[in-house]
Amino acid sequence: MPATLLPTTSRPTTDRRHRPIHDLRLSVIERCNLRCRYCLPAETFGPDYAFLPERELLSAHALYKIAASAVELGARKIRLTGGEPLLRRDLPEIIERLATLDLDDLALTTNGVALSRLAPTLAAAGLRRVNVSLDALDPEVFAQVAGRRVSPQIVVDGIAAARAAGLGVKINTVIQRGRNESQILPLARWARREGLTLRFIEYMDVGNQNAWQRGDVYSGREVREQLQALGPLEPVAPEHPGEVARRFRYADGSSEVGFINSITQPFCGNCSRLRVTARGEVLTCLFASRGLAIRHWAEDPMMSSEDLAFHLRRLWGKRDDAYSEQRQQQAVRRRKREMWEVGG
Ligand code: GTP
Ligand code: 5AD
Ligand code: SF4
Ligand code: SF4
Repeated sequence: MPATLLPTTSRPTTDRRHRPIHDLRLSVIERCNLRCRYCLPAETFGPDYAFLPERELLSAHALYKIAASAVELGARKIRLTGGEPLLRRDLPEIIERLATLDLDDLALTTNGVALSRLAPTLAAAGLRRVNVSLDALDPEVFAQVAGRRVSPQIVVDGIAAARAAGLGVKINTVIQRGRNESQILPLARWARREGLTLRFIEYMDVGNQNAWQRGDVYSGREVREQLQALGPLEPVAPEHPGEVARRFRYADGSSEVGFINSITQPFCGNCSRLRVTARGEVLTCLFASRGLAIRHWAEDPMMSSEDLAFHLRRLWGKRDDAYSEQRQQQAVRRRKREMWEVGG
């Protein structure tokens, strides 16, 4: 039967570049307890900065409804983001609800500061994995990058607590030239010893406040050259086509290393990520300027997840985003959304 004659619900949802929806990234909060220079520079986002107050964030019920409609459209994986998602008070309740959906994966991206305290509760609620950001092991470098006098040991302890609670853990490290390339080998040695997957992320031009310059990008290739000191790496096949990291394994099988080379090796070709901000705006690209406001629908008790799915399908059908591949051609610098709004 031709695709156009299939009933709406069984037709696969693809965009104009034939990309399906696989991941839903739900931001649950804007606030954060760190001030990473590449995301929330402390000079701009001081103590009085007005993030969206808790009562105006998408409710747990609205988040569930959005997730259910994304699952109807084919999403298999949900990732909770922020800001810092562990600051959201009803996070366990949100996770409990999402865990009832038919999913292959339910994960969360965090800075790990509050993980020691929360890991057991989140695991009990049904969370399966956490990706923890850690850009340095050296306390001075960590404080420089994170913009706060917090010890990296707190994050390391949080990682141990997450593992002890049975959560899968990966480490995300952004390397900025001139800031933390000294941490590449210490982090790699530590992760290998711990048997943890470590992913190096190229510093991206997200948002408008971090004064990004091409010269600040420390490429994945340069990181890999440094890692030669630790022995050979073998490629690992991706688990699914839309994965952002190029995966490798140490030849001795000790652990994996990944490279998220969004600048030097863009991966828009099979980008299958739908993003929702904590304000209830749907974005079809990390670098989108505008999104579709769905908060009123998501919070409306008369609007079902099937009705919401209709709007999301229409939006995804029009999608043509490929920012990272077209970065060079962006003649006019348009205003972008900040990382803490979009959730990465
Ligand atoms: P896994 O499910 O463990 O593979 O996680 P993930 O890589 O999908 O999510 P995570 O939140 O850990 O993101 C890691 C890095 O990849 C962050 O810096 C994200 O901003 C970046 N990233 C994730 N998705 C995209 C994307 O669609 N485009 C770009 N340019 N970067 C992305
Ligand atoms: N470039 C690359 N990665 C970034 N992150 C935040 N801002 C940037 C940026 N400008 C990372 C965080 C976290 C993930 C969600 O995104 O360190 O690991
Ligand atoms: Fe917070 Fe993550 Fe942004 Fe750092 S990158 S300021 S931890 S939201
Ligand atoms: Fe997807 Fe946009 Fe990232 Fe490309 S730049 S991979 S389209 S989110």
